[in-house]
Amino acid sequence: MTETLVVKLGGSVITDKSEPETVDREALAAAAAALAGTDARLVVVHGGGSFGHHHADEHGVTTERGTRDAAGALAVHEAMTRLSREVVDALQSAGVPALPVRPLSAGSRDADGDLSLPTEQVRRLLGEGFAPVLHGDVVAHEGEGVTVVSGDELVVEAAPAVDADRVGLCSTVPGVLDGDGDVVERVSAVEDVPALGDSDATDVTGGMAGKVQSLLGLSAPAQIFGPDALSDFLAGEAPGTTVDGR
Ligand code: IPE
Repeated sequence: MTETLVVKLGGSVITDKSEPETVDREALAAAAAALAGTDARLVVVHGGGSFGHHHADEHGVTTERGTRDAAGALAVHEAMTRLSREVVDALQSAGVPALPVRPLSAGSRDADGDLSLPTEQVRRLLGEGFAPVLHGDVVAHEGEGVTVVSGDELVVEAAPAVDADRVGLCSTVPGVLDGDGDVVERVSAVEDVPALGDSDATDVTGGMAGKVQSLLGLSAPAQIFGPDALSDFLAGEAPGTTVDGR
């Protein structure tokens, strides 16, 4: 049976983080070519890199701290739309039937910050043979204006909605690292990696602990791996770190 995969391309993988709004074209083309090589049904999610984070910082918006400045919110959203356009173009050029899905138009957070994201359109697009592409964005947040939604949060929402068989997070690090900087092969609980305790577990956009914590709640195994391992992941291998809380 054809597998369904949710793959996140980290913002630092596809952009040059040192320069505002700069796509790393070579890295993006390589990722797109790898994604074009799979028979799996694909949902692609990407992060902000030098597009979203730059504007979010400028306007003081995080996943928890919001803004009611419409121009600031638009600056973040439009930057992410520009990056999404680049990603969708690269995917289509490589032969992936990619179409964008904008979280701002669909998702929102309640007063506790819990995200709700309608996913019927994602499921239908997938069912009709498209590869939906979601991206980090801003979303309405009760009591806060708008806050950032990270790619990792979107992965956690999308994976159960499409009944993903496997989840892949392609990042600039080769996996979850232990205290010696070596890649941990498997994580079944946050306590498995004492080094994770060093970072703030509530930091859902940047922190590895938050990333691992939310992936542990999925009913599909997730892999965290570096850019060179994307093809291996797509081929069914388990590169980097396997995060499986089942
Ligand atoms: C951030 O998404 C999105 C915005 C800042 C709008 P992520 O937090 O998933 O981005 P990366 O992958 O770390 O760059």
